[in-house]
Amino acid sequence: MRTPVLAANWKMHKTIDEAVAFTAALREQVKDVTDAEIILSPPFTAVRAVADAARGTRLGIAGQDLFWETQGAFTGEVSAGLLKDAGATYVIIGHSERRHLFGETDAAVNAKVRAALASALTPIICVGETLEERESNRTLAVLDRQIAEGLTELTAEEAGGLIVAYEPIWAIGTGRSATPAQAQEAHASIRARLEQAFGRDAAARCRVIYGGSVKPESIRKLSTQPDIDGALVGGASLDPSRFAQIVAGGRPTPV
Ligand code: PGA
Repeated sequence: MRTPVLAANWKMHKTIDEAVAFTAALREQVKDVTDAEIILSPPFTAVRAVADAARGTRLGIAGQDLFWETQGAFTGEVSAGLLKDAGATYVIIGHSERRHLFGETDAAVNAKVRAALASALTPIICVGETLEERESNRTLAVLDRQIAEGLTELTAEEAGGLIVAYEPIWAIGTGRSATPAQAQEAHASIRARLEQAFGRDAAARCRVIYGGSVKPESIRKLSTQPDIDGALVGGASLDPSRFAQIVAGGRPTPV
């Protein structure tokens, strides 16, 4: 039985004050939730403030990216150690916006995953196909490649502890979510790939979450699919009440 993960990805939104106000509101609304992992991913500037506002709760904090070196002359970059120091225990890696807007490759994703694991940050690794890849029937091949190359040199123990986010690019921010059946097919294929590479136990432990226009209205049908272990939520995570509704719908026994 895998614990579901409901993760908010705020992208480039929220000042420190806004992020703290959100966290204060959300902590009230989810204070009774003990059967799901709830994660907030603020911009770097608000990580510390959100971690402070979440202290004493079960809310986890994620960075939205990291750089793989531990320190040095890398202007503008943030290391795993700096994220931990600010209060993060998770980090999103290889989001499609990083891959497509900033040219991030599978090799870079792999270096970041290994850096995160070396600092005991839990990676949330994003994979997903473009519309063109889906329409030319290449979805599962693309996911296979992203998983194989992104997770190179990991041990089975490390792979089992990961969170993989399946985010079809055509569904991100478009209002057009994958259907539960489309998502389940992709998630099952990702889990089969993990089993091939890391064995049955690791594949059974690894949480595979869905992202792409998740809403309070759509979470339940998605999260009751056998291989969908929660969601990574952008737009609908910016409002604490909407995100709390998504948390409620993604729990094993919703209230
Ligand atoms: P969305 O974003 O929920 O706004 O589609 C999801 C994501 O990019 O992680």
